[in-house]
Amino acid sequence: MVKMGIHNFATIVIFSSTLSLIAYAFDPSPLQDFCVALGDIKSAVFVNGKFCKDPKLATANDFFFQGLNIPRNTANKLGSNVTLLNVDQIPGVNTLGISLARIDFGPNGLNPPHTHPRATEILTVLEGVLYVGFVTSNPNNTLFTKVLHPGDVFVFPIGLIHFQLNVGKTNAVAFASLNSQNPGVITIANAVFGSKPPISPDVLTKAFQVDKKVIDYLQAQFWTNN
Ligand SMILES: *[C@@H]1O[C@H](CO)[C@@H](O)[C@H](O)[C@H]1NC(C)=O
Ligand SMILES: *[C@@H]1O[C@H](CO)[C@@H](O)[C@H](O)[C@H]1NC(C)=O
Repeated sequence: MVKMGIHNFATIVIFSSTLSLIAYAFDPSPLQDFCVALGDIKSAVFVNGKFCKDPKLATANDFFFQGLNIPRNTANKLGSNVTLLNVDQIPGVNTLGISLARIDFGPNGLNPPHTHPRATEILTVLEGVLYVGFVTSNPNNTLFTKVLHPGDVFVFPIGLIHFQLNVGKTNAVAFASLNSQNPGVITIANAVFGSKPPISPDVLTKAFQVDKKVIDYLQAQFWTNN
């Protein structure tokens, strides 16, 4: 029979409560697409994407951006223009888990289906009429849509594919808030058909259940970001 001393018992209690803490905790949200582990910490250059400035040297300008009232040029294939203000534009949001976007739409302008891998988005329409929507994950892939007018607000949950289309006769403007300092954007068509190098057509013909000609056509398009 093993005789357990008080110290061993205390160690087991502490160890198991540590384990249960680990079991209840979840992963912190990454602030970059990936972080390949380094064996040699002398080669590490940054943590969470950015160094921190000495707080004594911070100024109001670190938390400031000017010009989000200016309409953006929407003369591109999609007829829309996204101005994202993340930690790269406002260094003061570093580690604060927040960012902002202005989205301009010409008539029929589209912000095409995309996802933000690290953020939920809440969108407010200021001008125009937008048909917006998101699709839930597998297996249901339920589409939630709404036609939004000025003052209307809509939420796009983290990671879900969503879009906004200008269905009014005028330009449209919306502002979006996102709960990451670096939400990331994956535009579905660009990622799937515009990857560099291209994904093998063998993958895409089977995935999309279409003829190789259709995939060749799509992969030959010039996929730009708005
Ligand atoms: C968005 O608008 C800015 C300023 O109007 C312009 O410099 C930029 O090229 C536009 N982006 C796209 C994708 O059209
Ligand atoms: C998904 O679809 C199934 C089958 O129709 C249904 O039972 C389930 O409630 C749906 N789940 C959600 C979250 O809508």
